Amino acid sequence: MTPIHKCIIKRDKKVRPIWIMRQAGRYLPEFRSIRKRNKDFIKLCLNKKEVTNITLQPLKRFKLDAAIIFSDILMVPFGLGQNVKFLKNYGPKLNNFNLDKIKSVNKREFYNNLKPVYDSIKNVSKYKILKNKDLIGFSGSPWTILVYMINKSSPKNNFKYNFYKDKSFFHDLFEILYSNIKIHIYNQIKSGATLIQLFDSWAGLVDSNHFEEFILKQNKRIVDYTKSLNTPVICFPKGIHDYKTFLDYVKPDVISIDYKTDPEKILKFTNIPIQGGIDPKLLLGGKKKLETEVNKFIEIFKNHPYIFNLGHGILPETDPKMVEYFIKLIKGNK
Ligand code: CP3
Repeated sequence: MTPIHKCIIKRDKKVRPIWIMRQAGRYLPEFRSIRKRNKDFIKLCLNKKEVTNITLQPLKRFKLDAAIIFSDILMVPFGLGQNVKFLKNYGPKLNNFNLDKIKSVNKREFYNNLKPVYDSIKNVSKYKILKNKDLIGFSGSPWTILVYMINKSSPKNNFKYNFYKDKSFFHDLFEILYSNIKIHIYNQIKSGATLIQLFDSWAGLVDSNHFEEFILKQNKRIVDYTKSLNTPVICFPKGIHDYKTFLDYVKPDVISIDYKTDPEKILKFTNIPIQGGIDPKLLLGGKKKLETEVNKFIEIFKNHPYIFNLGHGILPETDPKMVEYFIKLIKGNK
């Protein structure tokens, strides 16, 4: 059994596994050099050879307990035929889409558009370096994908949407996302993903009147589906305040907390393994501060199953040496 499965299934408090959100990414010079040759990010995500290389890059450097397939949550809108581009210093840019048109995209078409993702997972899972480690597949949660689809760029600075206005439009889009996210998860698991993480990166945008409908219900049905495939599922509802309700309603196998959440508070609500929470900025410098924080997390979770990770993706300006130090603090010389 892999260390992360031991932590999840056996509730083993001693294994203390670790992986890092965005562990394959721009902070690694070897990623940047591949990226330089591949200007089109979506095409890169569909290139089996490069995806395999990039996914394995962090495992070659660091003692991590899992690989996460190199892909993006915006591959789902791409699979539905919405044009997605990633612009330098801007982030994702999506085209308008037509609801009737994406409604008419059938299962086979969606699958075919994303087949290279599944082929890459099959390929990665053959590598010996993954022995006794997990291969994490993932998806955006319906709400977070919907936000990018309708906002057509990151909602960081400009998300104004009247949730009341287009009720039936939201409902239809959620239904389309539900059936296609299921296909996406099913095929990742079938191809060799041993664990699924659901990124609800923009859960924090939803007001309390829509929390149940957009966050709880939508995550729950994807969690139920993933569990029915005998695969553990980690939820990352970034920015929410009511973790207790989320945990009671959605019942994920693992809850990943963001860096603004008090880990001690979550401990009180739940017996399930907790993941993450460490502020990615702590990897930007100051070894002493990082050590204090890691020790704090070790102490807090000494009697609780815990998966080390950050409270959001690793920042591109992180020095890989700090990642090495971070892992050493957790694992010693093991
Ligand atoms: O974690 C991993 O190593 C696996 C790969 C992965 C990527 N994106 C690669 C990526 C994963 C799991 C994601 C998830 C993702 N993508 C999320 C959820 C997590 C989160 O950050 O909240 C979101 C919201 C996206 C959408 C997305 N993709 C944005 C907003 C951006 C641009 C901003 C940024 O960080 O650059 C991306 C691009 C992206 N996805 C990059 C990588 C490595 C950078 C691309 C580049 O090289 O320019």
